[in-house]
Amino acid sequence: MTFSTPQSRLIVALDTADRAAAERLVEATEGTVGVYKVGLEFAMAGGLNFAKELADAGHAVFLDMKLLDIANTVASAVRSAGGIGARYLTVHAYPQAIRAAVSARPQGLSIVAVTVLTSMDDEDLRETGYADTASALVEKRIAQAASLGADCIVCAPTEAAAAHRSGLVVITPGVRLPDDAAGDQKRIATPQDAIRAGADAIVVGRPINAAADPREAALRYTAAIAEGLAARD
Ligand code: C5P
Repeated sequence: MTFSTPQSRLIVALDTADRAAAERLVEATEGTVGVYKVGLEFAMAGGLNFAKELADAGHAVFLDMKLLDIANTVASAVRSAGGIGARYLTVHAYPQAIRAAVSARPQGLSIVAVTVLTSMDDEDLRETGYADTASALVEKRIAQAASLGADCIVCAPTEAAAAHRSGLVVITPGVRLPDDAAGDQKRIATPQDAIRAGADAIVVGRPINAAADPREAALRYTAAIAEGLAARD
């Protein structure tokens, strides 16, 4: 796995519907970021073509498609993602979806299981029809993802320690420096705490892509990752 330096551990979300804005963000942050993440908003607006261009130019690309469908469709989508040249692809951590994704995984593509969205708390889960608390469901899904052969897991920073013990590579969104707005994220932590707890990489969206100076913001996050790594030893 390629998460080593503080920079390599920073995944920046290109959460925009505007290709020109994504190009500006990549240009502004190049050399300070390890991985660029293309999610649903951008995918619906030409982002997958941009993702292929980024991959062709040598950037590590994370396709955050959060796949969940019948096994045949998930497997076919995973094979198609191989053609984009992405390094990471997310699927919701439902056993059926993970099994299908792992069985179709092309070389060089890591399957990333998403446990429970970091915007969900216990009450949101109850509303969805789950009896489990967020932390109980996350724990269950971490164990399932590990036993079904997923490569990485996405979970909240507060669950990074448990995920780390599973042996999966741990990726955490919901990360904020103290001065940055939480937005809709409900289970947040600083980069230092997330890394110290066992996160291998962090995903940061709005605090970098909506910053007046995205490069300066990315550098603040990599410095915080470095502090977290130092505190681990
Ligand atoms: O702007 P912010 O830093 O909150 O963005 C976090 C990014 O991580 C978004 O692209 C969001 O879709 C993604 N994400 C998340 N929670 C998950 C999985 C992915 O926030 N469980």
